[in-house]
Amino acid sequence: LRILSISGPNLQLLGTREPEIYGTETLADIHDRLAVRARELGCEFSGRQTNHEGEIVTWIGESRGHIDGLLLNPGAYTHTSIAIYDALRATGIPCVEVHLSNPDAREAFRRRSRVAPACLGRVAGFGGESYLLALAGLVTSLKIWSN
Ligand code: DQA
Repeated sequence: LRILSISGPNLQLLGTREPEIYGTETLADIHDRLAVRARELGCEFSGRQTNHEGEIVTWIGESRGHIDGLLLNPGAYTHTSIAIYDALRATGIPCVEVHLSNPDAREAFRRRSRVAPACLGRVAGFGGESYLLALAGLVTSLKIWSN
C-alpha cells in the first residue's frame, strides 16, 4: 500500500509555531516517524508540505492510480477549501483528516471542516501522534477492503 501525507499552510513552521498548541516536533520528525511505522505495516510512505491551496488540489488530483491512501492536514484550508473537498470527491482517494490540535476545542471558526464529508475519519488533538494514529486507522481500513 502506498500512503501519502499532505500537510498544508504554516505546517513547515512546526517545532517553533505556537508550541503550546502544536508541540515541539518538526514536520520532518513526524514524517520520519510515519516512514518507520509505514514500513512496519508493509507500506510505502511519502510526506509533503505546501502553503498553496492549488498545490494540494494538484497533488490530490495526481494521486489516482499512484496512491492508495491519504493523510491530510489541510491547516487553515480545512475550514475554507471547497476546492480541496472537490479534489477528494473527484479522485475518491481514501483520506483521513489529521490535526495536531483539536479544532473543536478552539475558536468557533475552526469547528467547521469543509473536507470532513469526503474523509473516512479524523484524528485530532494528539500533536504529531495524530498522524501516527491516523496512519494506523487508514491502513487498517485499506487492508480490510483489499481482502
Ligand atoms: C491545524 C488546525 C487548523 O485549524 C489550523 O489552521 C492549522 C493547524 C492542526 O493541525 O491543528 O493550521 O490543522
